[in-house]
Order: sequence, then C-alpha cells, then structure tokens
Amino acid sequence: MRKKLSVFLFGVVFLATACRGFGAGSDHEIVPEYVLTYAENQAEDYPTTLGAYRFAELVKEKTGGRIQIQVNADGVLGDETSILEQMQFGGVDFARVSLSPLSEIVPKLNVLQMPYLYTGAEHMWSVLEGNIGKDFLNSFEGSNLVALSWYDAGARSFYNSVKPIRKPEDIRGMRIRVQESELMGRMVEFLGGTAVPMAYDQVYSALQTGRIDGAENNWPSYDSMAHYEVAKYYTVDEHARVPELQLVSKFTWEKLTPEDQKTIRQCAEESARYERRLWSERSKKSEERVKTKGCEVVELTPEEKIRFQEAVSPLYGEFCAEYVDVIDAIVAAGRER
Ligand code: GCU
Repeated sequence: MRKKLSVFLFGVVFLATACRGFGAGSDHEIVPEYVLTYAENQAEDYPTTLGAYRFAELVKEKTGGRIQIQVNADGVLGDETSILEQMQFGGVDFARVSLSPLSEIVPKLNVLQMPYLYTGAEHMWSVLEGNIGKDFLNSFEGSNLVALSWYDAGARSFYNSVKPIRKPEDIRGMRIRVQESELMGRMVEFLGGTAVPMAYDQVYSALQTGRIDGAENNWPSYDSMAHYEVAKYYTVDEHARVPELQLVSKFTWEKLTPEDQKTIRQCAEESARYERRLWSERSKKSEERVKTKGCEVVELTPEEKIRFQEAVSPLYGEFCAEYVDVIDAIVAAGRER
C-alpha cells in the first residue's frame, strides 16, 4: 500500500514539474506575435525551399521568436497563380514565385525575362543586383504585393517526348506547356508550336498522357519533377533566364513596424545569397543525374542558336515597346562584361 502511494505521489510531482517545464506558461517559451504563412511550390529539398527555411529561421532568430514563418512546400497552398491572388487579399503572407506568372500582375517585369536577353548568369545577376534590379523591386505599386529579394532559377530550355529538337522548325506542330504567362505563350507561337498554359504540378501527367508533347524548364525542375521520365529529349537552347522573387503581401507588410520590415528584408536578402549558392550546386547535380536516367541531351550549334534568337525577337516589340531604354541599358551592361 505504502509503495503504491509513493508511486502515486511521484507521478503527481513528475506531472507538475513537466507542466511547469514544457507547458504553455513556460519561461523558455516565447509566444509569437505573428505566425505567418509562406508558400513554395517546389519540393522540400529544392534550393528555393531550403532558402525559404533559412529565411524563416533567420527571421525567428532576429526577432527573438516574435515573428514566426511557416513554410509550406510542395505547392500545398496552391499553384503560383492562385497564391498570387491570395496574397493580393492577404490570404497568404509570403511566397517565392517565378517571374512569369507574376508578370501578369506587374507587366513591366516581362523585361527581365525576355528570351536571350542575358549573356549568362553573371550578366543577369549584375543587372538584378544593380540599380535596374532595385528599380524593379520598387515597381510593385498598386499590386498589393511587396518584393523582397531575387532568387536564382538558372536558364530554361525545351524538352519533349517526341524527338530531339535541333532547330526551331522541330518545334513546329508540337504542343508545348508554358507557364501561365502571355509572354511565354507567344514565345512558343513564334517558334511554330501550340502553347498550352498550365500549372507546374500538372505537367508530369500531361506529358505522360500525351496531352502535351513538351515543356521547358531548368535542370533542377526537370529533375525534381521527374519530367525526364516522360520527356527524354532535352535541348540546351537556354531561351530564357527567368529569375524568381520572394514576396510579401502588402496587407501583412503594413501590419509590421518599420524596424521589423527592415529585419525581414535583410533576412530575405541573406536567404537569397544562400539560395544562389545552393542553386549552382543543384543545377550541376541535376544535369548529371538526368543524364544517367536516360535523358538525351541536344546541344545546339551556334548557327541554330542564332536562328532560335531570331525567331523569338519580335517579342521585344510586342512586350517591351515602352521599355526600350531599360532593355538597352541591360544589353549594354552585358557588353561591358
Ligand atoms: C520553375 C520555378 C517554379 C515554376 C516552374 C514552372 O521551376 O521555380 O516556381 O512554377 O518553373 O515552370 O511553372
């Protein structure tokens, strides 16, 4: 009987200690002032997702746990177009999105994703990190979105399930998935294909069932979404470098103090530097991996690459007539390098 009582008393004491130590009122636990959502449509191990986690970690650390950001990867909160809509009403706080769907809301951004605009990654980064990039970050007036920092997404190329693409004519008649972006649709049309706009997570099954013949994306996406399994011909035409942005809803932004806004911006920038490092490693790894999985890589001859550029050049007149000076400045920055 005595033994039973002491076991019982021990249990009560243990429970009381546990409640004090780990319970809601614990000294160690900081009750956050804000718990904010972050949408990401890539997989957990993808560079942009890892960048998002780094961002959340930094914000938590720098605000002493007052602001906590919950990263939702794998597109669980919706595709990019619907995430942008939700953010415009404050339904989602943060996201990392590709510039293509975002340009439908802020059309000026098309300038930064024009086909064959940059001579390479370094040229693009010199533009984004310089005054031109800063001006673009400040051109979100009226969109209900605030831009925080640029993320890398390499260069996009075409791939398909039908045959190797060696020249622009090979795309003729093909049904090619594009992002939900008018510019990307027109680009495929100039190459003689039929553009099929579709959300990213639908592409695998559309390739598998033959609803589309091909798509276009960078190495890590082609690898991560396993598109190489259903579209093995990848042509390194690198028609566009489409950077990505970390964004915050204006509704969320305006709730925060200027000091917290400054901290968040700095954390976003730091996470972007981290993402860029991860990006270049992942890009090489993905390229190697898909080659071992049966992807057939086609390199364009310099002559055919020029023919691709010429075929899509009318897009500059269609989408950038108002921004000729910016385009000129970007091209000039490339020549200086
Ligand atoms: C890239 C980008 C995604 C985008 C996708 C697409 O993978 O990182 O954010 O959704 O392209 O082609 O839709």
